[in-house]
Amino acid sequence: MGSYEKIETAVIHAGYENDKQTGAVNVPIYQTSTYQQDGIGEMRGGWEYSRTGNPTRQALEKLIAELEHGTDGFAFASGMAALTAVLSLFESGDKILLSSNVYGGTFRVLDKVFNHFGITYALEDMTDIDAFEKKLAPDVKAVLIESPANPLLTITDLEAVAAVAKKHGALTIVDNTFMSPYLQRPLDFGADIVVHSATKYLGGHSDVVGGLAVVKDKSLAERVAFIQNSTGGVLGPFDSFLLIRGIKTLAVRLDRHTENAQGIAEWLEKNPEVKKVYYPGLPSHSGHEINARQAKNGGAMISFELTEKHNIRKFYKALRLIVLAESLGGVESLVCHPATMTHAAIPKETRDKVGITDNLIRFSVGIESKEDLIADLDQAIRNS
Ligand SMILES: Cc1ncc(COP(=O)(O)O)c(C=O)c1O
Repeated sequence: MGSYEKIETAVIHAGYENDKQTGAVNVPIYQTSTYQQDGIGEMRGGWEYSRTGNPTRQALEKLIAELEHGTDGFAFASGMAALTAVLSLFESGDKILLSSNVYGGTFRVLDKVFNHFGITYALEDMTDIDAFEKKLAPDVKAVLIESPANPLLTITDLEAVAAVAKKHGALTIVDNTFMSPYLQRPLDFGADIVVHSATKYLGGHSDVVGGLAVVKDKSLAERVAFIQNSTGGVLGPFDSFLLIRGIKTLAVRLDRHTENAQGIAEWLEKNPEVKKVYYPGLPSHSGHEINARQAKNGGAMISFELTEKHNIRKFYKALRLIVLAESLGGVESLVCHPATMTHAAIPKETRDKVGITDNLIRFSVGIESKEDLIADLDQAIRNS
């Protein structure tokens, strides 16, 4: 197994050498909970128990570490399990600053679970770096960013925030779910930890729930490995296999996803029935330039609002091809209503403050024909 310069090659080959025993080109699914020991403490290849380590999961962990330019990867049963493990690095009295529109579940786990352990959080606007730096009091131990952030696709300057956080002794954690390492690699910009809901673009087919974390520092890796083994929210061998399989086509899928998204965002922006379009690939987006510096393109998530004369409930009902569902990042196009779905855990007044209005539509652009997708949007807008 080597180190691959081009990510198009790494997604297919990194993390796994053909099986020594059989030559199997794809990683076998080691569907086992335990491993025979030849004597007390004599383990073959170090395998002991599958919560602690499993060869299929390890292949995925090595793969994601390489793709994200980290040293160590960790696979979990969901994106929330990955975030929970990472947040378990902190202790009572520590504070975590979140970029202002993070995924509702990230907000909820801090607001309703980690609060029991004395870990506090604050939602902060990270677009003004000087103002943000003033928030980095000594109790702030981490900054958690999504860029683009969910669901308004707000862009944060990863390099600037990571530099300021480092200066004040805080770790930078980036949830890279919306971009994937094919479009953006936060560790290259100074982040310490990357997390993923691998359920999304990495899996890519809406058929597996999983989470990943990557670090680039050995002592941090030891701490995350300890938490992973102690708390046990690990990904099973079959789901690890599915993610490895999904990741093989990450580059080709995302090329198509993002080409579709750019075209559809431009079409929406020109449409007089559309009030506002949020897409980092549009020059009109407030974070367009920063995003162009740190990511390959604008990604494949678009949010938009229709003009007042439209009824968005009718819009969702009228869609024929595009599916109303939670989640994103699969080959099929999905829409959701953030206010009642992904971001329902955030109180309405906080949602309104950050701009997640009741009229906002979030669109995960799939890899179908762009013309078919535009035709579906067009008829649904007209019938709403
Ligand atoms: C940005 C982001 N982070 C984390 C999660 C949580 O991941 P999972 O649903 O795999 O637990 C999601 C899920 O939608 C998400 O969109």
